Parts: sequence; C-alpha cells; structure tokens
Amino acid sequence: MGKNNRPRGPSNSDQLKKYAEDLTEVYKSEKEKRKELEASKQQLVKYADDLNQTILELKAAHQELQEAYFDTIHRLVLAAEYKDEDTGDHIKRMSQYCALIAEKLGMPAKEVQNIIYAAPMHDVGKIGIPDSILMKPGKLTKEEFEIMKSHTIIGANILANSKAEVLKLAEQIAISHHEKWNGKGYPQGFSGDNIPMAGRIVGLADAFDALTSKRPYKEPFPVEVALDIIKKEREQHFDPDVVDVFLENIDEIVKIKAEVVSA
Ligand SMILES: [Fe+2]
Repeated sequence: MGKNNRPRGPSNSDQLKKYAEDLTEVYKSEKEKRKELEASKQQLVKYADDLNQTILELKAAHQELQEAYFDTIHRLVLAAEYKDEDTGDHIKRMSQYCALIAEKLGMPAKEVQNIIYAAPMHDVGKIGIPDSILMKPGKLTKEEFEIMKSHTIIGANILANSKAEVLKLAEQIAISHHEKWNGKGYPQGFSGDNIPMAGRIVGLADAFDALTSKRPYKEPFPVEVALDIIKKEREQHFDPDVVDVFLENIDEIVKIKAEVVSA
C-alpha cells in the first residue's frame, strides 16, 4: 500500500478539540455537582437553624411548665400551712435547711434539688386535721394528739402514686418526718436506717425551726438553747450523722434563719 493510501487517523487538532470538549463537559458536570452540594449544604444549615430554634422553644416551654409545676406545689403547701403558720417563711427556711444538710451529707445534686421542692410538703396532711385541734392554743389531749399524728398518713395518701420523683420523695418525707432514730416516733415506729434519709433530714430541720420560732403557745428559743436540745437528742430523736453535719454547718443555718424572717 502506498504512502498516500494509508487510512488517516484523527489529526492532532481533532484530538485536542475532543479533549477540550470532554474537559468542558467534565467541568460543567463538576460545576453542577458543586452547585447541588452547595444547595444541600444551605438546606442542612437551614435545618440546623430550624432545629436550634425548635430546641430553644422546647426548652422555654419546658422551663415554663416546670415553673408552673413548682408554683402549684408551693401553693398547695401554702394552702396546707395557711391556718397553722403565720407566714410561708417556715417552709422556706425548712427547704433551705434541708438542702444544705443534704448537700453537706454528700447527696447527689439532683436529690438535693428534689429535697428543696419536696421538704415543704412534709405537713401537707394537716389539711385533713380539724381546726379545733390544729389551731388549739393549749396542749392537746391524748386523743387529740392521736388525730394530729395522722397528718403524716393523710399527707402520704395525698401524695401517693405519683410518677414524679419530687412527689415520690414528698410522700416518703410526709410519712417519715416524725419517726425517731430510737424507734419512738410515729406513725410506724421505724428506727435508724429504716427511716428514709430525707425524712431524717426534714425531722431535724423541722424541729430546729419549730424550736427557734414563735408559736401561739411559746416564745422562740435562742439558737444556743435549741442546739443544746438537739445535741441531747443525738441518737435519740435524731440521726447522729445528720446532727453532726447540722452542727458543723451551724453558721450557714443561722444565716438562712436570719435571711428568711417574717416581715
Ligand atoms: Fe409534721
């Protein structure tokens, strides 16, 4: 075959043109992909923004609900204490004494938080005690005292069967805050570690506040006198560990007492 009859392949310029066209195609396709990626990215950013906004709104709603929940509890407590106490200061002090003792005893933060809200409900059962007994200025008769004791059971019944941790703890406190370390308390006569810790803490905080507050039948005792009584009741009425922690932190207790006083 002669030189001039050889089949002609694509010329260099044709090949270059083909490469250029391919490259343009690749470039276009890459550009398209990048555009799609950018659009996806923008969409994701928008989703993230929407999600953040929803979380913020949910948090605000949760906060509002929680505040309404604790406000309701507080008002239930005020209703129960209305006839019995001059002001709501007793429950405020109680709550703070209990939280301080619980924290110093090393209880987890969540439990300390629950005690703050549950402790004020300890006497909620007094709502079921007749006024003639609840508001009697003098000493109660034996029969009247038996009825008065039932505020522990009434309170526990009011608070029973809740799924909320705070109310479960409040039920436990209502039934156990008049038990004594030596087993001579009521209503069940439990002793030592058989009394729930929260009940032991509330028992001491309640007694200290009652001793150092004015009541229709008595003037407030000075703190020193109240402390002497509590020391004598160590291992009798009160859990010795709770008494020790209470005494170790008496400065803070007295500070709470000074800050939360009747107007
Ligand atoms: Fe009580």
